[in-house]
Amino acid sequence: MQILQGKKILLGISGGIAAYKTPELVRRLKDKGADVRVVMTEGAKAFITPLTLQAVSANAVADSLLDTQAELAMGHIELAKWADFILIAPATADVIAKISAGLANDLLTTLCLATAAPVAIAPAMNQQMWHNPATQNNINTLSTWGYTFFGPGAGEQACGDIGLGRMLDVDELVDLTCQQISALHKNETNTPKEQPLAGQKWLITAGPTREAIDPVRYISNHSSGKMGFAIASAAQQLGAEVTIISGPVSLATPTHCHKISVTSAIDMHQQAMTLATEANVFVACAAVADYRIDTIANEKIKKSHDTMQLNLVKNPDIVADVAALTNKPFTVGFAAETQDVEHYARGKLARKNLDMIAANNVAESGQGFNSDDNALTVFTANDEKVLPLTSKSELAKQLVQHIRQKFENSLKS
Ligand code: PMT
Repeated sequence: MQILQGKKILLGISGGIAAYKTPELVRRLKDKGADVRVVMTEGAKAFITPLTLQAVSANAVADSLLDTQAELAMGHIELAKWADFILIAPATADVIAKISAGLANDLLTTLCLATAAPVAIAPAMNQQMWHNPATQNNINTLSTWGYTFFGPGAGEQACGDIGLGRMLDVDELVDLTCQQISALHKNETNTPKEQPLAGQKWLITAGPTREAIDPVRYISNHSSGKMGFAIASAAQQLGAEVTIISGPVSLATPTHCHKISVTSAIDMHQQAMTLATEANVFVACAAVADYRIDTIANEKIKKSHDTMQLNLVKNPDIVADVAALTNKPFTVGFAAETQDVEHYARGKLARKNLDMIAANNVAESGQGFNSDDNALTVFTANDEKVLPLTSKSELAKQLVQHIRQKFENSLKS
């Protein structure tokens, strides 16, 4: 059976240049078995015609809240109830702001307010608009309410800027939609669920951090966030209340997890220190940059010399600072090593005053950074446990059970 067979997907299109990709998106979702209906904002119609989307979706396109004919055919409340899943792609900064403010002054925002279906948002905007605190605030608000963000991606933008804010490619949007819908389906069918972590708050860092050099360049690493997101999902499925503090990644937020998006190590440190005192368990899976640029250039650096030096300063150590809190959560670090794994991991366990450390050999191919699989050796002061190579989602389940056991033992002693 096709993965989206019988699923009713409402695609909301707002006014960005990436709207030109939406006919292909509709086609690809339909290829996977979905029934797709399209809702367009006024802005969207400046980039792509309703007729094109009607032709590819084989359904009438809705674009007005006050259209008597359209209301007769399928009213806006009926449309909001019809959808199993709403995807807004591209989602402009404006539409994100309206939804986070609870506005309902056009059809798309009204549907978001009126639906009980999960909503995923694929942002598309200029990098400066993406980084603006107003946009970041709106995104955090929507994440708290359970909205999922697909992207954005980074790269060259239509306006000539380079950075975060590009809508993800159609392939990625289709994959993420399939992942999200099958995760929702699994959650619905996995009842009754065992909830041994009910009442516990887990705080998890995931993904890379980005350390800006100038407005268009940064230093980062290859972390995809897959390992951290898999741990979040596994803990949530066992009943924990989960918050992920994530660097820039292109992953769907696991169902019922709250995600806080950050960019730099300093941002991640600030969020972790604010939230850690409330948490029972803290898992530091993020690949945090150890150093940042001393002084970020205000303007793009010109290539006027054959060589250049960048002055780096040490970033705060997030997991060590959490472990040093008087009221610290049970603190689990990760160790990404390329040699002498046990020696270096045990060194970090002791130096950072951690309760546990999960070490991975990131020199092995097919595991570690940006791979779907991984293997871990988990150390505490007194013992070690090998979790052999498997998918990150399976490994995360085993790790979460191991953390749970050690955490509960620590409460007894
Ligand atoms: O994201 P994926 O593509 O799925 O890849 C997963 C992973 C390889 C990134 C993950 O399994 C992993 O190993 N994460 C830790 C990466 C890392 O930064 O390791 P480290 O040995 O440099 O750091 C040790 C610990 O200190 C880590 O828990 C790290 O989060 C933490 N740290 C490091 C520096 C810093 N300034 N603050 C920190 O909290």
